[in-house]
Amino acid sequence: MENPILSANYLRQLPKAEVHCHLEGCVPPSTAVALAERNGVTLPAGARVGDGRYHFLNFDEGLAIYVAVSRSMQTPEDFEAVTYESLTVGARGGLRYREIAFNPQNHPELSYDQMIGGILAGARAAEAAAGVVSRVVVAINRELGGEAAVRLVQDVIAHPHDEVVAIGLDSNELAGRPSEFVEAYDLARSAGLRLTAHAGEHGDSTEMVECLDLLKVDRIDHGYAALLDPQLLARTVDSQIPYSACWFVDEPALEVEGRRRDLAAMAAAGLNLSVNSDDPALIGPELDECFVDAAAHLGWSVEDAEKYALSGLDACFADDATVARLRAEFIAELDRLRPVAYGTNDK
Ligand code: ADE
Ligand code: ZN
Repeated sequence: MENPILSANYLRQLPKAEVHCHLEGCVPPSTAVALAERNGVTLPAGARVGDGRYHFLNFDEGLAIYVAVSRSMQTPEDFEAVTYESLTVGARGGLRYREIAFNPQNHPELSYDQMIGGILAGARAAEAAAGVVSRVVVAINRELGGEAAVRLVQDVIAHPHDEVVAIGLDSNELAGRPSEFVEAYDLARSAGLRLTAHAGEHGDSTEMVECLDLLKVDRIDHGYAALLDPQLLARTVDSQIPYSACWFVDEPALEVEGRRRDLAAMAAAGLNLSVNSDDPALIGPELDECFVDAAAHLGWSVEDAEKYALSGLDACFADDATVARLRAEFIAELDRLRPVAYGTNDK
């Protein structure tokens, strides 16, 4: 028998943790336009339509907007304000923990030290104001190659912060194989940083295998291509490595139905999935609406909703004491919310 439909109010209130969200993809168009004007940056037309959304037709156009929005953030205060706004907006939809990825290489006007100072100031203020805990993943732009990545990781290691927990790899998968980044990943691992990488989003499963075998990642970002590789699928079901799946697509032409089908198949195969927003302002929507959509399309029961509420904590790179504290808070909150799981008072 099918599960009864979970209330959207319940899903929005669930405590949530996400591990795959790009800071620069959290900047709403109105903020981007203000930053760009102040800092003398020209945004692509698709960022200036004025209807509260970004407009792009494919991944390359979306990435071009992402890079231009990144370039519009040019002071530590810009980073602080964007971080604070993104976390407090997320907190309104039940966000309690976020791993924030950001691309230092897309902000050549600022030093790593200046950027991370702004992010951590915004993150601490958001935790004080809205109770949302965050950690940072420093993401390598794979389009800039392995040597630049090593320099970035050296910079991260030279400016240690407890909140900076991992190295990631993103941007256009078709423009840089994981194998180019072995030295950067080895260096990060030896400094105690955790490791994640985008793979199998637009590239094929060989990218994912390289991430596992050569970069020795602790987590895979996206990973939909595993569905086309039975051996990799079986291997990662077996290992239960976390996949930070993202519910909505960055390529409108691909249509969201395809992504929903992939995620349903990945869940049915038994992969260890969490639900993530990726770029909530660029692609949309915020994490709470991803939960509402996922519950409807995967036919979640209350147990499923609770499992996915906790799955981001299971996949995260925060220290054990922080995770244990959050887990206890989540479990108490899930118990409190269970009676309203099938409430009808929502849209
Ligand atoms: N940077 C921001 N969003 C991204 C995505 N979906 N894939 C690759 N790089 C990104
Ligand atoms: Zn991403």
